[in-house]
Amino acid sequence: TRNIELAVVAGDGIGTEVVEQGLTVLEAALADSDVKVATTDFDLGARRWHATGETLTDETLAAIKGHDAILLGAIGDPTVPSGVLERGLLLKLRFALDHYVNLRPNKLYEGVASPLANPGDVDFVVVREGTEGPYVGNGGSIRTGTPHEVATEVSLNTAFGVERVVRYAFEKAANRERKHLTLVHKHNVLVNAGHLWRRTVEAVNAEFPEVTTDYLHVDAATIFLVTKPSRFDVIVTDNLFGDIITDEAAAITGGMGLAGSANINPDGTFPSMFEPIHGSAPDIAGQGKADPTATVLSVSMLLDHLGLADEAARIERAVAADLAERGTSVRTTAEVGADLAARVRR
Ligand code: IPM
Ligand code: MN
Repeated sequence: TRNIELAVVAGDGIGTEVVEQGLTVLEAALADSDVKVATTDFDLGARRWHATGETLTDETLAAIKGHDAILLGAIGDPTVPSGVLERGLLLKLRFALDHYVNLRPNKLYEGVASPLANPGDVDFVVVREGTEGPYVGNGGSIRTGTPHEVATEVSLNTAFGVERVVRYAFEKAANRERKHLTLVHKHNVLVNAGHLWRRTVEAVNAEFPEVTTDYLHVDAATIFLVTKPSRFDVIVTDNLFGDIITDEAAAITGGMGLAGSANINPDGTFPSMFEPIHGSAPDIAGQGKADPTATVLSVSMLLDHLGLADEAARIERAVAADLAERGTSVRTTAEVGADLAARVRR
């Protein structure tokens, strides 16, 4: 038997509801295997912050580090000042656990309605850098609230950080059918970071001659995402551009309810973290309306990351089959989870 120690951070809003279903499907996928999962729940998020003022203590972080992987629901709540939980909990996890690859696949499954009239065959993956860029918190505000306020957020890009994520993206592209990599940036304006990214892609391309590459400024990329999304195979981009274009990418492939993601530490020094890319959706929290599919697809990525490719594929097939028959039927969060679990067991 193999034991997997899974840290569970359900978090805020719909996080608890979707994570519950993610765990149901995980259990179903491992039912006849000799892999056992032991979960540890970490009570983090808005409730904890209101009760204790804590977002993520060093002690809790150390406890999470002792696990093989993390399943996260959603972080953020309107009763907590914007940024407190995002920076103090979610981004702290990504940074402290060196999740330098934020992997966000986008596939238009059969039966899923896209808002695009002619989406074509959409199947690409965004490799979003996860530990640098404008997300590092390198900035400040002086004379805050006065007419003379100065506020900065300095984007940090290191040769080391850019190279390792670009290399990961090339590896990913080399293992896909089309073997195509698109760098998305804005080097006509962000001439420092932009050219570092461009040069890095050129240099690493020499190690992967079978991969073709192209480049799009981020504004142009937002156009192609709606006019010809089938042109994309692997996209590599910085933390903030990746944040923005992956919401757009989710929208064209069925919405946030279907978009899973993985925050990966490829070196294996720290546990990787799997989460739907949607937020806590306080407007529908507690109503059983949230679609747990994004979390279930994140669970599939979790299994794949842990070397359980067959089990991961079974979950993805179950999701694909469910989506193919879903139509406009309305089910609760728990019903979708139970249906997916049943398909996985078959
Ligand atoms: C995401 C979210 C986060 C991000 C927020 C909640 C900090 O939007 O996972 O895409 O910006 O990365
Ligand atoms: Mn986002």
